Amino acid sequence: MMNAREVKAVDLRRSNCVESNDSTHRRRGTVASEKLLYVETFGCQMNVNDSEKIVALLRKVGYHPTQDSSRADLIILNTCSVREKPEQKVYSSLCRYKGLKNRNRRLLLAVGGCVAQQEGERLLEKVPYLDIVFGTHNLHLLPEMVRQAEDGTRRAEVGFIDGDARLDLFPVEDAAGGVSRFVTIMQGCDNFCSYCIVPYVRGREVSRRSVEIVQEIGELAAKGVKEVTLLGQNVNSYGLKSAGEPDFAGLLRQVATIPGIERIRFTTSHPKDISPPLIACFAELPTLCSHIHLPAQSGSDAVLARMGRGYTRDEYLQKVAALRAARPGIQITGDMIVGFPGESEADFRDTLSLMDVVGYADLFSFKYSVRPGTSAAGFADDVDGAVKQERLARLQELQRRMTLEANKGFVGSVQEVLVEGVSKRGGQLFGRTCGNRVVNFAGDPTLVGCSVRVEITRAFQNSLLGEIRGRGTR
Ligand code: 5AD
Ligand code: SF4
Repeated sequence: MMNAREVKAVDLRRSNCVESNDSTHRRRGTVASEKLLYVETFGCQMNVNDSEKIVALLRKVGYHPTQDSSRADLIILNTCSVREKPEQKVYSSLCRYKGLKNRNRRLLLAVGGCVAQQEGERLLEKVPYLDIVFGTHNLHLLPEMVRQAEDGTRRAEVGFIDGDARLDLFPVEDAAGGVSRFVTIMQGCDNFCSYCIVPYVRGREVSRRSVEIVQEIGELAAKGVKEVTLLGQNVNSYGLKSAGEPDFAGLLRQVATIPGIERIRFTTSHPKDISPPLIACFAELPTLCSHIHLPAQSGSDAVLARMGRGYTRDEYLQKVAALRAARPGIQITGDMIVGFPGESEADFRDTLSLMDVVGYADLFSFKYSVRPGTSAAGFADDVDGAVKQERLARLQELQRRMTLEANKGFVGSVQEVLVEGVSKRGGQLFGRTCGNRVVNFAGDPTLVGCSVRVEITRAFQNSLLGEIRGRGTR
C-alpha cells in the first residue's frame, strides 16, 4: 500500500521546445512540442490518483509521460509524509535527480504532495536546484507553474482551497478503461488522530458530488470497467457535511444500481464511523465485495485513547462481529502501529491478542514515527527504537502465520475471480476473489475482464493458485 510506484506511461519521442519571448507563442510552442515528463509517486492510492491527474494536466501543455527519468525534461516527485520513512525516500530521490540536473541544465524538478504541503517555500530554500513546489490542493496550478519555471521562475504554491471551491478540482479518471479502477469520492480528513499528519497536509474533509461520482462510474462501466474502488481518507463520513447528499451507505446503494459494475470496493474506513446502514449494505448489496480495510492501529484501550481514535477495543470488536453477521466470510484487513508513546509490553500484547481475535486476512504494520505538528509530537517518543523493531518483527511474524493459514483454508474451495490480466511470469491469468485474495491460474487471455470460477489448489503467503472450473455468475 505504501510502496513507491511510478505512473506507467508510454515513452514518446523527444523534440525541441519552440522558444519565443512572446508568451502566446511560447504557450503554443509548448503545446506543439513533445517534452518528456517523469513522475515518481510515493505513498497511498490517493497519490497514485493525483499522479494520473498530473499526467493528464501536463499532457495538455505538451509534456508526455516517460518511464526513463534520464530522458525527462520535467521530473515530478509526488510525495508522502505519513511516516518518517517515505519522507526520507523523497530526499534521497532528490539527491539522485540532482546529478541529472547537473548534466542537463534545462531539466525542471518539481515536488508535490504531502511533503510539499508540509514544507512549502522552505523546500525551495533547502533544495536550491528545485524549481517547483506544489501542495495537495494546487495541482491545477501546475501547467502555469511549469511555464514560469521554463522561464526561470521558481515558485511554491501550497494554499488550501476549502469548501465547495475544491469540488471542481477532484481528479476525474481519464479515458482509459481497464477492468478495475479507483474513483475518488472524498478528500481530506477531520479526525486528527494524534499521530497523523494527514489532516494537516490534505486539509478538511470535502465530499465530491454524488451525481458526478455516479456519472463517472457510469462512463467507466461503458468502457468495460467491471470493478470500482471508492477512494477517500475516511469514506465512512462521505456526504455528512454536504446538505442534500446521500451518506456513504446511500452512495453505495446508488453505485450498486449502475449497469455493468460487478464489484464495488472502498477504502479507507474509520472503525468509529462504521454505521448500521453501512453494515446493512453488506447484507443487502451482492455487488459489494466481501472485504473491508478496517485499521485498528492498536489493541490497547489506553493506547487507542492516546491516539484519539474514538473507539475502544470492545467497540471495534463489536463492529467486526456485526460486519461478520451481515456478511459471513468477509475478509478484514487493517493497519497497526507499534511503539506509540507510552506503549507498554502489556499494551503491545493487547494488540497481538486483538489480531488473534479478529483474524486479519492481511495487515500493514508500522513503527511509530513522530510527525511534526501532530498532537502526539508533544508526547515523549519513549519506546526505544530496538523495542519498536522487536515488536514489529513479532507482530509481522504472527500475521505471516495467520495469513498463510487463512490462505490454506481456501484450498479446495471454488472462488469467483474477476480476471484482471495476464501475469508477467509464466503467462498465467490473475485476478482477485471477492474477498480480495490474489489468484493465479492458467487460462485464455480473452478471459480478461470476465468472472470465472476457480478451484483453489495451492496457497502461498501472498497469493493462491487455482484451476478454472467454469464461467462465473456475472
Ligand atoms: N507513525 C507510524 N505509522 C503511522 N501511520 C500514520 N501515521 C503514522 C505515524 N506517525 C500509519 C497508520 C495509518 C497508515 C496509513 O500509516 O497505520 O493507517
Ligand atoms: Fe489520519 Fe486518523 Fe484521518 Fe486516518 S482517520 S487519515 S489515521 S487522522
